[in-house]
Amino acid sequence: MDLFEYQARDLFDKHGVPVLAAAIATTADEAEAAAREIGGKVVVKAQVKVGGRGKAGGVKLAENPTDAREKASAILGMDIKGHEVRTVMIAAAAPIEAEYYLAILLDRSNRTFLVMASVSGGMDIEEVAHTAPEKLAKIPVSAVDGISLAKAKEIVAAANFPLDVADQVADVLLKLWEVFQSEDATLVEVNPLVKTKDGKVIALDGKITLDDNAEFRQPDHEALVDHAATNALEAAAKAKNLNYVKLDGQVGIIGNGAGLVMSTLDVVAYAGTKHGGVRPANFLDIGGGASAQIMADGLSIILGDKDVKSVFVNVFGGITACDAVADGIVQALELLGDKATKPIVVRLDGNNVVEGRAILAKAAHPLIEQADTMDGAANRAAELAAK
Ligand SMILES: Nc1ncnc2c1ncn2[C@@H]1O[C@H](COP(=O)(O)OP(=O)(O)OP(=O)(O)O)[C@@H](O)[C@H]1O
Ligand SMILES: [Mg+2]
Repeated sequence: MDLFEYQARDLFDKHGVPVLAAAIATTADEAEAAAREIGGKVVVKAQVKVGGRGKAGGVKLAENPTDAREKASAILGMDIKGHEVRTVMIAAAAPIEAEYYLAILLDRSNRTFLVMASVSGGMDIEEVAHTAPEKLAKIPVSAVDGISLAKAKEIVAAANFPLDVADQVADVLLKLWEVFQSEDATLVEVNPLVKTKDGKVIALDGKITLDDNAEFRQPDHEALVDHAATNALEAAAKAKNLNYVKLDGQVGIIGNGAGLVMSTLDVVAYAGTKHGGVRPANFLDIGGGASAQIMADGLSIILGDKDVKSVFVNVFGGITACDAVADGIVQALELLGDKATKPIVVRLDGNNVVEGRAILAKAAHPLIEQADTMDGAANRAAELAAK
């Protein structure tokens, strides 16, 4: 789960990372009140989970509360890269002398954690990373040792932080590591980390990604979920423990095994090019042991998607053999009754395929069509969706 900047700021604050006074607002009135409370100059910042807000006009300096009100009403409702701004954060304005960059992340390809640090932080850090990679220090951090004071000093030196801020930056690194570890994050990024004119080091912007696999031991994180943005179908699927992602096409997809489902999405998208550009409507992996109930749950989510015009069930029998899956499909349709209204193309292959196909043939359900191959099934499902 990605957090909003204001949520990242709060977690920074909780773990002692220096941040500025701030408050959130969803109306211009609230923004003005927040600016008055904070006092002095403030910045009004769009809260959207996408980078490049500043360049898109979503970060504006305000001289006083009335100005903050005007800036907030301009930013609220803005569309930034497809994200509607529903909330702004009002933060004290810092007198900036220098902008740095710090990030701790999970480096999957090297199976380690990684710190990235640069004294050329700010809105052009992506540019710096491309054109002057030597200005971005990358230091692996072992999961066992983490970031000790010695490690923090090593990072500060590797990135050439000026001596006058070295101790403060090292301390920020220790605190960021605490955030990363104790909150179960996979990314903690500060851009910019600034030096103010009076020599203080402060985190002005933060990005945090929390590891959803650690949800079970982070009960407090439930409060950080942005329910307004959660798709209703995805929420229903989550409640049933299904691995479901809503996509924007018309062919509902159910498969067993993430790899098979991914390739099913590809073949359907390809077949769709011959049928007016229809596309997969979702990703849904019902996993290895697909019982009738799981199949019914999956089908009901997919059939409840108003965008879905046809369904493609693509199963490769393994530990759960095709006959068990076929029984599951038949029982699922019985459970669903009138709620099942869309044509379903089923392709079974693998363990006990002959028995599985016989079960479906015998059931002769009016919505079910069988196909022998994955390509054939994808083509038929796309054709049905295009009708
Ligand atoms: N509290 C603040 N006081 C003064 N200047 C600020 C403050 N917050 C941000 N800025 C300035 O605005 C710039 C952009 O702000 P910020 O980093 O929060 O957004 P962004 O980087 O454009 O967004 P994103 O990180 O999503 O790409 C900063 O680099 C900094 O120069
Ligand atoms: Mg930033």
